[in-house]
Amino acid sequence: MAEEKKFYITTPIYYPSDKLHIGHTYCTVAADAMARYKRMQGYDVMFLTGTDEHGQKIEDKAKDAGITPQQFVDNIVAGPKGILDLWKLMNISNDRFIRTTDDYHVAAVQKIFKKMYDKGDIYKGKYVGKYCKPCESFWTESQLVDGKCPDCGRECQDAEEEAYFFRLSKYAKPVQDLLENTDFLEPRSRVNEMVNNFIKPGLEDLCVSRTSFTWGVPVDFDPGHVVYVWVDALFNYTTALGLLNDKYSDYDKFWPADVHFVGKEIVRFHSIIWPAMLMSMEMPLPKKVYGHGWLLLDGGKMSKSKGNVVDPYILAEKFGTDALRFFLLRTFPFGSDGNFSNESLISTINVDLANDLGNLVSRTTAMVGKYFDGKLPADRQSDALDTELLQQAASLREKYEGHMERYAFQDALAEVFKVIARANKYIDETAPWALARDMEANGARLATVMYNLLETTRICGVLLTPFMPESMDKLFDQIGACAACRTWDSAAVWGSLSATAAPTKGENLFPRVDVEQALTELEAAAEAARKAALPPIEVEPFVEERVDFDTFCKSDFRVVKVKNCVPVKKSAKLLCFTLDDGTGEDRQILSGIAQYYKPEELIGKTLAAIVNLPPRKMMGKDSCGMLLSAVHTEHGEEKLHLVMLNDAIPAGAKLC
Ligand code: MSP
Repeated sequence: MAEEKKFYITTPIYYPSDKLHIGHTYCTVAADAMARYKRMQGYDVMFLTGTDEHGQKIEDKAKDAGITPQQFVDNIVAGPKGILDLWKLMNISNDRFIRTTDDYHVAAVQKIFKKMYDKGDIYKGKYVGKYCKPCESFWTESQLVDGKCPDCGRECQDAEEEAYFFRLSKYAKPVQDLLENTDFLEPRSRVNEMVNNFIKPGLEDLCVSRTSFTWGVPVDFDPGHVVYVWVDALFNYTTALGLLNDKYSDYDKFWPADVHFVGKEIVRFHSIIWPAMLMSMEMPLPKKVYGHGWLLLDGGKMSKSKGNVVDPYILAEKFGTDALRFFLLRTFPFGSDGNFSNESLISTINVDLANDLGNLVSRTTAMVGKYFDGKLPADRQSDALDTELLQQAASLREKYEGHMERYAFQDALAEVFKVIARANKYIDETAPWALARDMEANGARLATVMYNLLETTRICGVLLTPFMPESMDKLFDQIGACAACRTWDSAAVWGSLSATAAPTKGENLFPRVDVEQALTELEAAAEAARKAALPPIEVEPFVEERVDFDTFCKSDFRVVKVKNCVPVKKSAKLLCFTLDDGTGEDRQILSGIAQYYKPEELIGKTLAAIVNLPPRKMMGKDSCGMLLSAVHTEHGEEKLHLVMLNDAIPAGAKLC
C-alpha cells in the first residue's frame, strides 16, 4: 500500500515573557516554508506552533506588572502586536496553535505525569542544586560554567525543595543509541555535542516538579507541586493532536512528528529529555529533531536584556513580509549561526529581488506588451542558444527538492536564483530588441525567446511560492499563468504555460530600496523603539544618609538674576553667567548646561544658586558658586532644568 502522504512539523512553543524578535521569527518562517512546500507536493500537513505559558519567570513578571499570570500571558499572546499578530503579519500558515494554559493540555499533562509516576519512572525525592530562572533550567554545581548558567551565562539561584524526579538515567543508553546510530538529530554536528557534553559525563535524573511557585500544571495527586515547565511544554507536540484529551483527534494520524524545528540551545531538551520521556510513555519517537542556528547581532545572541533585538514589525512594515521571509532563508544556512544586519537585508532585496527577479519579470512582460501587443503568437523558432536555459529550468525542481528535503533552504533558493541569473543572461544573448527591428523575419524567434523567459519565470515562481506566497501570486498574474501552471507538478513540466500567454506588466513586485535612506530610517526606528522600552522617567536614588540641621544651614542659597550669559570658548558644555546676587558686585558662575539651554534665552531669568562654595577654576575662569537645577532621565536620556524663580523675588533673597 502506498504510504499516506502526511507531514507533521512543529516549531518550539514560544515563551510569552518578552516581545518576540526576528530570531524567533526565523524558525517559524522556516517551518512555514516547509509546510507550504509539503502542501504543494500534495501532503496532508499539520503545522503546529504555540506558546509556553507556565513557569516562575511568567509568575514573577505578572507580579511586577500587578496583574495575574493569565492576564499577563493573554496580553502578550493575543493582545495588540502580540504573538498571534506577529504570525499573521509574517503570513504563517500554521494549522493549529497551542497554548499550554489551554484546559485540555493541562488535563492531559496531569495524566501523562501520573502515567510515568505509576510506571515508576517518576519518583519523589529532594532537590538540592541550582536553578536558572530565565532558562527555567535545573543544574548541578558541576554543570555550571564559572558558577553561572551554562546556557545563558546568568546567575543561578540555590534551590532546595521536595520534588519529583524523572529517571532520565535509565534511558541514557537507548537515547545515546538513538543519537549515534540514527538520523534522529540533525545537523550531525549537534550529536557529538549532546553525547560528549551531556550523556557521557553521566545523565542524572531530572527534577520534574516545583513547590516554590504555583504558576504551572498542578500535580493532581500531590497538591503544592507543579509540573516542571519543560515536561509540560514538550508534551504540547502530542496533546495538540489529541493525546489524552478530547479536544482533538489527529494523534493517530500525525504522530510521530516528521520534524521538530528547534533552536540550538534547546536541542538538549528535544534530543535527550524528550525521547527519554516518550520511551517511558511507550510512545513512538519523532522522526527528526533539527537544531537550527541563531541569528546573531554584532556576533552575539539577540536578547532583550542586552537591548540588541531586531523588531520584525519594523522590517516587515518597511520592506514587506515576503522580502523579509525570503531574506531570512536565502541568507543564512539553516543549521549554522548567521549574522543579521540591515545592510545584508537591503542588499538581498536589491540584488536578488529587485534586480534579478523583479527585472526579469518587468522586462519580459514589458517586451511582450511592446512587441506583441500583450499576447504571444503561437509561432515558434528554436535556436541552440535556448538549450542551456531550457535544461536548467527543466531540471530545477529536482535539485530544489533535494535541498528542501534536507531543510537546506539557502541551497534550494540558490538553485532558483542560478536559473534566474541564467534567464537574465539569456536576454542579453538573444537581444530581443534587435530581433524586434524586423518582426516579419524574426517574429517567431522573438516569440520563442519571450516564451522561454516567461516559462522559466513561471517555474521559478512555483518554487519560490513557499517562501513568498503573496508576491508569487502577483507574479503569476503578471506573466499570465493559469491555476494549473502554478502547481508543484507543473514545475517539472516545461511548456505548461499557454503558448499564447497574455502577460501584463503590473506593479513593481520588489521596489529597489534606497540604501542610505533606509538605513537612516531603520536606525531612527530602532532608537525610538529602544527608548520607548526604557522606563519613561527615572530619578536619582534618594540619599539614605541624614544631614544634621546645622550642617544644612551652613549652605547659603540665594536668588540671583542673570545679567549676562555666554558660551565658554573651546568648551562644548560650559556657559559663563554674570549674575546679580544683591551685593552690588557681579558674581561669575560657570555651569555645564550648554547642551540644554541657549545662553541668550537665560538673560534676565531669576535663578537659585549656592554662593558659599569655594571658588573653582574651570577653563581658566573662576566659578563662584553653583546654579541649582533639577535632573532626571527620560526614556534613557538625561534631562536638566534650571530652577527658575518668580521674577518678583529680589536678587540676594535667601533661600531657606
Ligand atoms: N519555550 C521554550 C521552547 C519549548 S519547546 C517545547 C523556548 N522558548 S523561546 O521563546 O525562548 O525560544 C523559542 C525558539 O526561538 C527557540 O528555538 C530559540 O532557539 C529561538 N530563538 C530565540 N532567539 C533566537 C535567535 N536569535 N536566532 C534564532 N532562533 C532563536 O525556548
